[in-house]
Order: sequence, then C-alpha cells, then structure tokens
Amino acid sequence: MKKTLSAILAAGIAFAPLAAFAQDGQGPNENTAQEEEVAAENADAPEEEAEEGHAETPHYPLRRPEEMNWSFAGPFGHWDVGQLQRGYKVYREVCAACHSMNFVAFRNLEDLGYSEEQVSTLAAEFTVQDGPDSSGEMFDRPATGSDYFPAPYPNPEAAAAANNGAVPPDLSLIAKARAVERGFPTFVFDIFTQYSEAGPDYLHALLTGYGEEPPEGTELMSGTYYNPYFISSSALAMPQPIYEDQVEYPDGAPQTVEQYSRDVTAFLMWAAEPHLTERKATGFVTMIFLIAFAVLMFFVKRRVWAGTPH
Ligand code: HEC
Repeated sequence: MKKTLSAILAAGIAFAPLAAFAQDGQGPNENTAQEEEVAAENADAPEEEAEEGHAETPHYPLRRPEEMNWSFAGPFGHWDVGQLQRGYKVYREVCAACHSMNFVAFRNLEDLGYSEEQVSTLAAEFTVQDGPDSSGEMFDRPATGSDYFPAPYPNPEAAAAANNGAVPPDLSLIAKARAVERGFPTFVFDIFTQYSEAGPDYLHALLTGYGEEPPEGTELMSGTYYNPYFISSSALAMPQPIYEDQVEYPDGAPQTVEQYSRDVTAFLMWAAEPHLTERKATGFVTMIFLIAFAVLMFFVKRRVWAGTPH
C-alpha cells in the first residue's frame, strides 16, 4: 500500500509540469490545434490583415546569442588574467565614456594581476570629487585605490539627455542581469551540462551584432540602431561602440571587434562575480567530500545495525 502511494506521489510530481504546460495551451497537441484555427482565420480574411497592417508580433531578441567558449565556464572555470586586463582596457577606453560601474573599486583591479602601485597609476587616470575642504568647497582630485569608479555623468537625467533619452545602464552587474531565455527543452539539458553563461553570451552577441541592414518592414525609432540580438526590441539607443583597431593591445592579441567583445565581456563577468573561480573550486571540493561522506555513512549504518535481527 505504502509503495503504491509513493509511486502515485512520484508520478504526480513528474507529470505536474507537463499538466501545467497543457493548461497554458502550450501542450504539443493544443498548440497545433490553435495554430490550425489561426491559419483558418487567416485564410478567411487575408486582405483585411494586410490592410490593417497587423503583422505578427515579433519575439525579441530576433536572433539567439551564439554559445561561446569561456575560460570561466564549467566546474573547473578560471579567469584568463591576460584577457581580463585587455577587457579592462576596452572598458576604460570605450565603454567608460557612457557607462558607470558603481560597485567596482580601483583596488579590486588587483585581482587582474596588477600590483598596488599599478592600481594607483590606473586609478590616477580618473578624477573624483571629494570634499568639502576647510572652506566648505567640494574639490576634484585624482582617484586612489580606495575610490570606486566615477560615473561619466553627474546624474541619470544628464546621461539620458546625452544619449537620445536612454540611460546607459550601470555595467557592474550587467553580465548577470541579462540573459536570453533558452526555452524548452534546452533549459533541461542546461542543468546537466552546467550551462550558466547566458549573460556573457548575450553581451558578446550584442556587441558583435551591429552593422546589418534591418529587414524590410522594420521601423526603427529615430536615434536607435538595429541589432537583432538586443533583448527587448529590434534596435537600441547605443550606437555600435567598438570598431576594429580602436583599442591598442600591448600583448599582440588580434585587434578585432570579435576579440574586443570577448575580452570586455569576460571583464564584465569578473566585475559581476569576482569570486566566481573560488566559488567553483569550493563547490567541487564540497561535492567530493559529500560523496565520500555518503559512502562512509553507508558503511557506518551497516556496522551499527549489523547485530540487529530483522
Ligand atoms: C555613446 C555611448 C555608449 C558607449 C560608448 C557604450 N554604450 Fe552601451 N549603452 C549606451 C546606451 C545609451 C544604452 C541604452 C540602450 C537602450 O536601452 O536603448 C546602452 C546599453 C548597453 C547595454 C545594455 C543592453 C541591454 O540589454 O539592455 C550593454 C550590455 C552595454 N551598453 C554595453 C556596452 C559596452 C560593453 C560598451 C563598451 C564596449 C558600451 N556599452 C559602450 C551607450 C553607450
């Protein structure tokens, strides 16, 4: 009896999500039925549709991001320090003109392999406001290691006014704040392949996704730029930010849009989760410990109950 009950319970848990899908009208059968209905309606009144201009509502993003190979992916993920340094250079020379990075302090750059003196030199390239001084005035001074990255605009209104009404978002956490949904059944496989790089894949796709002509019939708002990878529309208020040979790489890496995009994306991932590699290493050791502990407990249980007749 107990066994039957638990089997029913297990079946209930396994099939509940399927039932929910079916109720949403997304079950495989209902979907085709609905599509047929829609197709029939369309066949009845094709001209009306065209006249009113009711085009099918597009799904954004128009194109899904490509999956990239990232050094920080998977259970043995690690940072490529050279890449992070190049990425910082791209952020500093290109993105920092419009985007803030409020949660990152200059001293954090030591993670990128820079010494304290190097960090001080990098920080001194920026100016921050300090004060008030003894006469009550605010004053500007070069940044130091303990300062946070200063924002390029004094307030969001100024940022919007300079960018066609769109505020460039803060980039501190952007690599974890954006991700394109993977849909069924991919998200199920993702659990097993441990895929968790949807954020970086999106950023890379967005940065390399400019330069195409919009397909016919796409209306762009003035001041926006077509990008099929943008998550919430067909165009965004950011013009293509990087071009070939724009940033000089001292280590001889290719100076292409593709390489810049990868590097700055890796840097933004580091900014969003600086302790990612420690987290993964700790998680791995923890799993080994738990498996060993489970085996140990199994034998302990056998020993403890060995003398008990059943
Ligand atoms: C000329 C100013 C400017 C520069 C330079 C710039 N951006 Fe932007 N960026 C913007 C604006 C404006 C938006 C907001 C766009 C919108 O919401 O329509 C934006 C949005 C973004 C977004 C968010 C997209 C989304 O899904 O909402 C990301 C990510 C981004 N920028 C990354 C970068 C990176 C990385 C660089 C450097 C390589 C960069 N930007 C350089 C102006 C800029």
